[in-house]
Amino acid sequence: MSFRYLGNKTKLTDWIVGEIKQVLPPNSSIADPMCGTASVSLALARAGFSVTAADALTFPVLHARVRLLAKQAPAFKALGGYLNALEWMSSTTPIEGYFFQEFGEAGSPANGRSPRLYFSASNAAHIDGVRCAIRELAQSGVISKIEHSLLLHHLILATNKVANISGTYGYFLNTLSKTALQPITFGPIEFENTIGDHKILQGTIEENASALKVDAVYLDPPYTKRQYAGNYHILETIACEDAPVAAGDGGLRPWQEQASDFCYKRHAANAFRRTLEQLNVPHVFISYSQDGQVQEDELFSILSDFGKVTIHEQPYLRFRSHNRIKKGTVLERLYHIETF
Ligand SMILES: C[S@@+](CC[C@H](N)C(=O)[O-])C[C@H]1O[C@@H](n2cnc3c(N)ncnc32)[C@H](O)[C@@H]1O
Repeated sequence: MSFRYLGNKTKLTDWIVGEIKQVLPPNSSIADPMCGTASVSLALARAGFSVTAADALTFPVLHARVRLLAKQAPAFKALGGYLNALEWMSSTTPIEGYFFQEFGEAGSPANGRSPRLYFSASNAAHIDGVRCAIRELAQSGVISKIEHSLLLHHLILATNKVANISGTYGYFLNTLSKTALQPITFGPIEFENTIGDHKILQGTIEENASALKVDAVYLDPPYTKRQYAGNYHILETIACEDAPVAAGDGGLRPWQEQASDFCYKRHAANAFRRTLEQLNVPHVFISYSQDGQVQEDELFSILSDFGKVTIHEQPYLRFRSHNRIKKGTVLERLYHIETF
């Protein structure tokens, strides 16, 4: 499963989970409350832990629900089984709706600007068709919550593959790329029957921290100034199944209320401190990049107020996006705090 997601730890999960396994006994419980693609959540689940996954945004919660709770393909009785459900998505009648108008090459954005080239006209209309069909199916009450989440998860994965972007959805490329011209497709995913008792929450770490009753918490906060709510607005709109005002040239949904303090240089250190003050668990693990908003010395000093800190380091290739290329490797750090 490929995800284009800033800070996605898919390539680092062996290292991260390997370090966590050195500390936590088998069958422990651990929370991943900033789960993103849920790649670390799933790797922790594979390692035998019971995982509580959460995120401030809606689409990561969908990913986590599917990746952790769908331990086998759901029955999809209303659609004649899982593979037929994928076929149903592929053959859904296109509609010239919200995605077509706001994000398609032949659209007509409500704010009067020229078409936004996030998708080819046919893919944008296909996305509209699938969104409408999923909404009707859910409203008719013939699919379960996990089936509903799985259909949206598939639509997000398929949309990601044909999006005419480089890196994030902050803006689109000037001309449609080769991949954006390919028709949208819906391929099967693998389901994993992990043994843990997993839970999914939605909300910010500020809202969830004090309620986490687990043996450990793994935090993977944003480390750059790029806000996820703005940079992944299209995926959030698919997950929320709404049609918000698409503002400005990029067509962003209103995201300011979901802005994360971890993305602001002047607030990030305090965000770490407030989070740690609210957590009441014996072990906290934190992934943070050398490039992060909080410098290593300052972060170490904050974390040391809450327990004994150990640092593990791993060289890692920098995230690249179209107009912000920074070459070379960066040190990815995993902090372990054994709390007082
Ligand atoms: C670096 S990404 C996590 C990547 C994830 N570990 C993965 O492998 O895909 C950071 C995540 O934190 C979420 N986030 C940002 N601020 C948050 C907050 N205050 N509370 C909860 N989640 C937050 C973002 O929506 C984003 O999904």
